[in-house]
Amino acid sequence: MIIANWKMNGSKELIEVWLNFVSKNIKIIDGKDCIFCPPSCYIDFSKHLIEKTNQSIRLGSQELDSLLSKPLTGGITAEMLVEVGCSFVIIGHSEQRIHLNESNELLSNKLVSAIDNNLTPIYCVGETAKQKKSNQTKEVLLEQLDVIQSQIIDKCIIAYEPVWAIGTGESAEISYIEEVHSFIKEEFKNTTDFSKEISVVYGGSVNLENYKETYNSSQVDGLLIGGASLNHSTFTKIYNMS
Ligand code: PGA
Repeated sequence: MIIANWKMNGSKELIEVWLNFVSKNIKIIDGKDCIFCPPSCYIDFSKHLIEKTNQSIRLGSQELDSLLSKPLTGGITAEMLVEVGCSFVIIGHSEQRIHLNESNELLSNKLVSAIDNNLTPIYCVGETAKQKKSNQTKEVLLEQLDVIQSQIIDKCIIAYEPVWAIGTGESAEISYIEEVHSFIKEEFKNTTDFSKEISVVYGGSVNLENYKETYNSSQVDGLLIGGASLNHSTFTKIYNMS
């Protein structure tokens, strides 16, 4: 799967240009989802544009709230996301963990709420530069992965996004990505009776120079692309040629 994470970027005009170009030029193949995650306010607009094309571009949300027992001004529930056409939702992105102070308990609730409503979570994990330097990567990942309750593991996609690689232009080396992805996959194999291998996608400064090597690795099940996904021809090339 190839995922475009637009973060806090875009406008109706830019989305229309992007979707027109991508839908005309992309060759979507079975088993390789093309997932577009615009800002929440443009999801419904994007859904209507996608419906006019004959392409099965899927929609994902960058946001989900799960504090259902209390009123939450500004909140968006999983039901709402499904109603406006989402099939996926990004949960635990490091930018939200850091800036919105998301706790493990909150992330665990968001994952359950997504699954309960048939949304597939793209659950982001990754270490900071400081944690990597002090050899804490595996420990940090285990703590982040621990929030996934065992009964929902088979319905989650994991996105490994080293924090130091996000938006920096400094993608992780392929050997390092492979080591971490294999660690995550083994961890799930060893600790659960989940027989299918979990999907682990990579994100962090994926661009036209590095996508091929990363996507071609047998340990990598897809790409989560931020900055480079904003350009319609770059995104289309990465999808078609990976
Ligand atoms: P980037 O962002 O590709 O701009 O590094 C990836 C992400 O944050 O999902």
